[in-house]
Parts: sequence; structure tokens; C-alpha cells
Amino acid sequence: MENFKALRVFEENSEFNRKIVERSINDLPEGDVTIQVVYSSINYKDALSSIGNRGVTRKYPHTPGIDAAGLVLDSNDEKFSKGEEVFITGYDLGMNTDGGFGQLIRVPGEWIIKKPQGLTLKESMIYGTAGFTAALSVYRLAQEVSPDEGKVLVTGGTGSVANIAMKILVKLGYDVIVATGKVEKEKEALMKLGVEDVIHRKEIEEETSRPMVKSRWSGVIDTVGGSVLTSVIKAIQYGGAVTTCGNVGGASFESSVYPFILRGITLFGIDSVQCPMDLRLVIWDKLQGEWKPETLDEMVQEVELEKLENVLDKMIEGKKTGRYVVKL
Ligand SMILES: NC(=O)c1ccc[n+]([C@@H]2O[C@H](COP(=O)([O-])OP(=O)(O)OC[C@H]3O[C@@H](n4cnc5c(N)ncnc54)[C@H](OP(=O)(O)O)[C@@H]3O)[C@@H](O)[C@H]2O)c1
Repeated sequence: MENFKALRVFEENSEFNRKIVERSINDLPEGDVTIQVVYSSINYKDALSSIGNRGVTRKYPHTPGIDAAGLVLDSNDEKFSKGEEVFITGYDLGMNTDGGFGQLIRVPGEWIIKKPQGLTLKESMIYGTAGFTAALSVYRLAQEVSPDEGKVLVTGGTGSVANIAMKILVKLGYDVIVATGKVEKEKEALMKLGVEDVIHRKEIEEETSRPMVKSRWSGVIDTVGGSVLTSVIKAIQYGGAVTTCGNVGGASFESSVYPFILRGITLFGIDSVQCPMDLRLVIWDKLQGEWKPETLDEMVQEVELEKLENVLDKMIEGKKTGRYVVKL
């Protein structure tokens, strides 16, 4: 495969345009392993990279795609052999290294995970960074909160991270309440995933300036940040926990020390990008086995490179629902 297709983002006169272009294998960056990408997935960071967000991608032209799964085409790393099924999530892929929205990538061997038996390549990308982040969040939450301790709230309900987090929590026996901005449209579909209730995100916003309110949640998986995170911290019961991974609702939040020193709550920060490989392997082992939801492929849609732009735009507008995998 000497030439391949990729969705490239170009900067022209301070504007950013996306185009599907043909590239040569010689255009790939330095690296140990060349991979023929079969599936990628769409994450919020990809949408940001595709509109020129310098916090994600410094230099353009660039190929986004922070996740990629495929077959090893060529390897200078002896751990990998030609034809092997592998995937990558995070590190610098799709940020400043050309990513999974191209049919070929070249990356360092340390970034690569061999596909476990319990997953297909497509399933590894149904999870992708979103699923890995969801699982990392559940893993941390479960260190502090067991299913019999009360209700667990998941915010940003129709988003990818939230969607997979709630599926895993349901599988593990937690009582899950989902907060979303799209109750009317999405309640029925979300309820089908086995959650106990779906509520509007306005119902969890605490307007009070008091440092704590009546305990409501044993744990919260927050994917939104901002005022939602500010509110939920006030309503965590004694010994409970919150995980924070996202900023779609704002990068700042406020808290006093009181929920921490009077209720002994824990706030876990979740990072999927630089997460060490030994922990990654623990999490992917759970994702391919005991945590794998029966409903993994519900609310998942497959798009081709040509239809990707529409989804990226919807994501930026907060109008996307569910999870998308990209067929290369
Ligand atoms: N820390 C990490 O390693 C890591 C890894 C992956 C993702 N993330 C971050 O996690 C967040 C979620 O990612 P994702 O892939 O699930 O994104 P996503 O699919 O776009 O979902 C985000 C969801 O948040 C809700 N939302 C959107 N705008 C909002 C607003 N202004 N206020 C409150 N809620 C809003 C929407 O759900 P509803 O309408 O249903 O409420 C939306 O579906 C992003 O910020 C992403 O950057 C972090």
C-alpha cells in the first residue's frame, strides 16, 4: 500500500478547512511500526483538532484521529509482526502525530496494544479513548464505592464516555442515574441500556452558595466539568467519590474543602492519554472480559471517511448522540 486516503485539516489565512486527500507512505512520520488502519473512532478531541484548536494540535496540515485499530504492515519493533491485529488510544496519536483518520499510520512501539482475544478490531474502537476513559473512571470509582452503597450519577449522558461508563456500571450492578440535556429525545434509548432513571441536567445544578447539600449520590462519573462538577461535589454522600475527565461544560469548577473534610469524599482525575501501560493493560483486560457490556454495540453508528465531517460538526455543537466508529 504505497498511497492512502486521509482526512487532512489545512490552515489557510487563519481559517481551517478539511479535505480528503491522497497521501504517500513516504509522508508518514518517523516511528517503529506502520499500521494499516481498519477502524478509528470519533472523540471530542478529534472534533477540536479538526477546527484548529491549538490546545490539541499545534501544527497544520494535520490528520486527526486519536484512536486507531488495524493490521501491522511493517515493524522495526520485534514485539510486533506483520499482519498482527493491534490498536492505539491516546499518547500523541492524532494530536501532533498524524492519526487514525488516515488509512496508514506510523507510531512508536510503546504506544501499541495487541488486540486481546475477547475483542474484535471494531469493538476495540467502539470503546476507543472514550471507552478506555469510561473504564478508567469506573475503575477509580469502584475503589471507593460499591454497588450496594447508593445511586451513581453519570453526567453528559448521551456522550461517548458517559454511554460506555453507564453500560459498564449497569453490568457491575450499580444503580445508575443519567443526567442529560436531551431528556425528551433520548430518555427512551438510554433507559433501554438498563439505567434506573434519566433526568435533565438542570435537575442536578445546585444554585445555592452553601458548601454542601443533602446527600444524593454515592458516586458520580462526571464527563462535563464546570458548574455540573461544582454542583455534584456538594451532593456526594459520606465516603463517596467523583471522577472528572471532561470540560465540555467548562474547564473550571468551584468547591470548598467541606465535602472533603466533613464527608471524606474523593475526587479522582482521569487521564487516558499518558496513562501508564501497565494500568492500560489491566483496564483493557477488564474491557475484553468481565466488564464487556452485552449492549456494547447499541447506540453505535459506523461512518466512512467521506461522512466524518458532519459528525465532527455535530460534536462541536453538542448535538451528537451516541458513539461513532470510522471505517477506513
Ligand atoms: N481525561 C481524558 O483522558 C479524556 C478522555 C476522553 C474524553 N475526555 C473528555 O471528556 C468529555 C466527554 O467526552 P466524549 O467523547 O464523551 O464527548 P461527547 O461524546 O461529545 O459527549 C459530551 C456530552 O456532554 C454533554 N454536553 C455537551 N455540551 C455541554 C455543556 N455545554 N454543558 C453540559 N453538558 C454538555 C452532552 O451530553 P448531554 O446532552 O446528554 O448532556 C454531550 O453529548 C470531553 O470534554 C472530552 O474532552 C477526556
